[in-house]
Amino acid sequence: MKKFFITGTDTDVGKTFITRLLLAKVKNMHQTALAIKPISAGSDDAIFLQQENSIMLPYETINPVYLNEPLSPHIAASREQKKLNAATIYSACLDALQHAVDYLFVEGAGGFLVPINDHETMADLAIQFNMPVILVVNMRLGCINHALLTVENILSKQLPLAGFIANQTQEKTQDAFAENIATLQQRIPAPLLGVVPYSINKEFCPLTDLITLP
Ligand SMILES: Nc1ncnc2c1ncn2[C@@H]1O[C@H](COP(=O)(O)OP(=O)(O)OP(=O)(O)O)[C@@H](O)[C@H]1O
Ligand SMILES: [Mg+2]
Repeated sequence: MKKFFITGTDTDVGKTFITRLLLAKVKNMHQTALAIKPISAGSDDAIFLQQENSIMLPYETINPVYLNEPLSPHIAASREQKKLNAATIYSACLDALQHAVDYLFVEGAGGFLVPINDHETMADLAIQFNMPVILVVNMRLGCINHALLTVENILSKQLPLAGFIANQTQEKTQDAFAENIATLQQRIPAPLLGVVPYSINKEFCPLTDLITLP
């Protein structure tokens, strides 16, 4: 089974969008795929992932920690008098992980260093999963800095970086798009797995041709 942890340069950068694309890509290849979202805070991400998964699993299996408010997980949790812990959340995901699929994707919440409690971040959860990381880069001004900081942190945790995907969440293509892509490629020591344009088309099939599975 191939397993990947999906992170991004920020919240709202297209982690779920890209994870759904990866699921569709695997299924196009007549293989099976499963995506989970261990922690969600005020989002429907897990429902979207559940719909694309090859196996229909109960909601709680896909998303063991659901927080009501769209806040950083440590704040959303404290408002509900909940205490999050990377090891416990990982254990809660073991049900999902035992399913034999060709590809497994774990979507983080927010960016790589969002806190989940007073001393742990999403990176600690990624360390628990111990999977190669795929970084989704939102192609906008500032993305090089965000991408390189995130890459540096992933590598500092001794997690392998499987690659990055350049995603365009806005209709207007950023200025100097090609130069930005080239800079990311030059400075990120992992392959560019795809460049995904802004697409309001709900039909994913043409987009799956634009990404390569690591
Ligand atoms: N290539 C794209 N074309 C069009 N819309 C996109 C694209 N990528 C992402 N979006 C849209 O941008 C918004 C944010 O994307 P998404 O929810 O995937 O971000 P995320 O990184 O998963 O956020 P979160 O941190 O909440 O998990 C969504 O409305 C999504 O449909
Ligand atoms: Mg998401």
